[in-house]
Formats: sequence, structure tokens, C-alpha cells
Amino acid sequence: MCPPAHFRVTYSINPWMDPGKPVDLPLAVAQWEMLRDRYRALGHTVEELAPDPELPDMVYAANGATVVDGRVLGARFAHPQREAEAVAHREWYAAHGFTDYHEPEHVNEGEGDFAVTASWLLAGRGFRSSPLSHPEAQEFLRRPVIGLDLVDPRFYHLDTALCVLDDATDSEIMYYPPAFSPGSRAVLARLFPDAIIADEHDALVLGLNSVSDGHHVLLPQAAAGLFEPLRERGYEPIPVALSELLKGGGSVKCCTAELRVAA
Ligand code: ARG
Repeated sequence: MCPPAHFRVTYSINPWMDPGKPVDLPLAVAQWEMLRDRYRALGHTVEELAPDPELPDMVYAANGATVVDGRVLGARFAHPQREAEAVAHREWYAAHGFTDYHEPEHVNEGEGDFAVTASWLLAGRGFRSSPLSHPEAQEFLRRPVIGLDLVDPRFYHLDTALCVLDDATDSEIMYYPPAFSPGSRAVLARLFPDAIIADEHDALVLGLNSVSDGHHVLLPQAAAGLFEPLRERGYEPIPVALSELLKGGGSVKCCTAELRVAA
């Protein structure tokens, strides 16, 4: 995770970002700290990446790389405003003993567009990550890639429209079908017949931008419609308030890069 010490909305690269709308920085920091402390209270280790004053979107740490079995697929950002973030992530991995690092040739925004199940990589395309990043990810991460076409600019990253609930399985996800092309919707319905289907309200508060450890699901508190379906399936929803970070177009998942070290 990367603290939002320099978070602000001064440019707009997704429909959520309105540079005219003020950001309450102390509140953003307090909300982010609550999320970090929640993870720690649940027993998870949280590493902190040093924020760069020139990179206001750096708080969305999920975009900096994708780690599977300890192998790190670096990011290449679609927009120049975020380009330098990839370097900060690369240096962090180098300094922390991750030796299997792949510098990507094609644009991919890390876990923004890559989600990991037990055997697969679900991969978004359409707004940010290049379709060419999919075979590149498959080759390096050694997981079959299932390409999914995003069609609604509000759901510009896969992690705004789909969340893996248990990566020990290939069956447990929740998602918002209208964010996907008809063909991709059919693919998702075929692969995940028991998925939790989010409604428009829960999708529009970025309820799918959530993080699950296989039991606890940390999700935006406004996504109340997801709580009961999660409980019915044995998960424990943990609502978190991240209203300030929503102004940049992100929530829980965007702020969290997962270090999947075990092979
Ligand atoms: N403002 C950032 C951008 O548009 C938000 C990134 C959100 N991150 C995510 N994993 N969806 O790039």
C-alpha cells in the first residue's frame, strides 16, 4: 500500500476524476490508515511504498505490478501522468528480494486489469491494458489468461467491475455484468455460474473494488447490497469508508497490491 500523503485530483484520466471537486486530504489519509490498520488487525502483513509528491495517483498501489507465485509482472501505464509509478514499484520489488521481475513491453496497469483465481488470470482490456499484455502476462506468469472486454468507461479497470472472493478456487467471484461486452458476459456466466451478481447501485459505489482473503471481504461501506449475498456464502463483509479515494476513481482494491509469494 502507498499512503495518500500527496493525493489530489488535478487531472482527469477516468470519469470519476473531477479536478474541480475538492479532496479532503486529512480525511483521505485517515480513511486510508483505517484500511491499512484493518488489514493488520486481521493478521495480514502490510508493506508501505514511499509516496512521491509528483505522483498523486500513487495511492492506487494495485496498478504497479501483478505478483503471482512470487513472479512480478511490472506495469506500464496507459497515461503519461502515471508512467513514473511503474519505476517506484519496480525498485520496491528489487529492494525486497523479488528477483523474478518482468519489464513489460505492452501497456498493463497491474491488478487494475489482472485478477487471479486458483488457476487462471482474468484479464481486462478496453480502456487501459493493451490486449497484447494478455499473452505477455500468460507467458511470464504461467497462468492461462481469460480476456474480458470492458465496455463502460466508468468501469475502466477490471477491478472496478469484478472481484475474486476466494483464490483457492476457480469459482468464487462477484461482478457487474453490464461493465462487460455481451461475449465476455457469456464467458463469465459459463465459467462462474454461481457468482454473486452486483446491481448498478453497488457497482457505482465501486462495491466490486474489494479485497478478500478468502473469508473477510473488505469493501466500500456504501455497497450494502453485497453484504447479505456475501454472508449467505459464508464470507464476512467488512465495510470501509474510502469516500475521498473514490474521487480518484478507486477504492479498497485499487489501494491494495497483493503480494502472492507462495508458489
Ligand atoms: N486515478 C487512477 C487512474 O485513473 C485510479 C486508479 C484506480 N486503480 C484501480 N486499480 N482501479 O488510473
